Amino acid sequence: YHNTPLAFAIFGGTGDLTKRKLIPALFSLVKEKRISDEISIVLVGRRNKDVIEFKEELLEFVKAYSRHKVKKDDWEAFAEKINYCRFDFEDEERGYNDLAKILENCHDRIFYLAVAPGLFEIIIKNLKKYNLIERDTGFQRIMIEKPFGFSLESAGKLNAAITKIIPEKKIFRVDHYLGKEMIQNILSIRFGNSIFEPLWNHHYIDNIQIISTETIGVENRGGYYDSTGVVKDMLQNHILQMLALIAMEPPVDLEPESIRNEKVKVLKSLRLFDKESAQKNIVRGQYGRGIIGGVEVPAYREEERVSENSNTDTFIALKINVDNFRWAGVPFYVKTGKRLDKKTTRIIVQFKKLPGINFYKNLNNGKPNLLVIKIQPEEGVFFQINAKSPGIDLIEPVKADYCHSCRADYNSPEAYEQIILEAIRNNSSIFTRWDELECSWKFEKSISESFEGIEPNFPNYAAGSKGPVEAAELLERDGRIWWDTFI
Ligand code: BG6
Repeated sequence: YHNTPLAFAIFGGTGDLTKRKLIPALFSLVKEKRISDEISIVLVGRRNKDVIEFKEELLEFVKAYSRHKVKKDDWEAFAEKINYCRFDFEDEERGYNDLAKILENCHDRIFYLAVAPGLFEIIIKNLKKYNLIERDTGFQRIMIEKPFGFSLESAGKLNAAITKIIPEKKIFRVDHYLGKEMIQNILSIRFGNSIFEPLWNHHYIDNIQIISTETIGVENRGGYYDSTGVVKDMLQNHILQMLALIAMEPPVDLEPESIRNEKVKVLKSLRLFDKESAQKNIVRGQYGRGIIGGVEVPAYREEERVSENSNTDTFIALKINVDNFRWAGVPFYVKTGKRLDKKTTRIIVQFKKLPGINFYKNLNNGKPNLLVIKIQPEEGVFFQINAKSPGIDLIEPVKADYCHSCRADYNSPEAYEQIILEAIRNNSSIFTRWDELECSWKFEKSISESFEGIEPNFPNYAAGSKGPVEAAELLERDGRIWWDTFI
């Protein structure tokens, strides 16, 4: 438990992430007394803000996004901890000196960079130049929001530049999926049960599906998204992190470096794409107009700050191979995208079917065993097994179901609460190390390069649908189905 005064300074303090995620997360942490009450939150931004009005705006966000009912007293006590530091990048000296003054009496400091990646290096340089980090007392850490760079090359340059200024141990590269309760549960489920580990390989597993779909579009992030697309926004980071946790070897212990060493090995084993394999194994998509929750929504190309003939992908389905002994021949099918029919993130492990012993007439038509890790919105895990139907001599699939979020004694923290808490605790195991990112950017590069010069036929799925029909065909061709539609 951290109980000395702590300063939490957010660059990008007026941005979307601060309002929707970071402030509600800090509110919960303070309310539940999981962090020191002596916290000073400094929002750093370029805009001229009236502090009282800004706090009122923040209150509306906390009411909308916090998992707590917001009581007046709690909010007032929390709001007192918030400062706004207007930062004029034209006059940086004054900006950093003002910030230094606010932080004067607080030696434990976390700087959260929720800005465009182009600004990471210059901010870190200045934090050092104006003596805000690398101090003799307390700790100073830097949390860096994604995207960490725009490409393999830019991420490499960025990493080289910032590790020259501050040591790796002070850098916390955020991937908020690693703060999700059920993603943290993957290792416990895999390595805490004697029944799974012996089967967790190509002898018994037929395929693994990682599905993360959203109903929202690009909201007010059109400018960012149009130059990013789904591969860099979701696949290169969140999806590959889930894949690494599902596929990795057991770590020697639970130390951050031991876990990350094993994740890197998986990421290094990903088979890269070339034009030919991409053509066969990747389905790209971009949404057109459609209906979500009964409301008509615009096509991607009609969204604000998106080019009207944009070829940015908002959906991808692909078959990934992990070239190592454990996973030889086991496809990892991934599907993720915006403006689909539902919001869900699940990992589905499909076991091989029994050999054809026909004890039960209908067994061969029966379903395979599935282990389904439900990450969101429901949290839990179920195991699909075959059992006798009541009263008749037929076999049917039934669920052994555990609902993590239904436990009356437990209210799962939001991912960002966990992320902030672990940075304060100096636990870097749920943050990404540079070599993990380097491998995942390499994988991203092989995909982007294989798309070069190809004119996609966009838009190719309606908002609110299941995505392009070719995504279903990708699995049908292999005699398989996407399980999210059936379970
Ligand atoms: C972010 C992406 O990293 O993750 C967003 O930039 C996406 O585009 C979001 O919507 C999804 O996160 P979650 O926690 O809502 O699944």
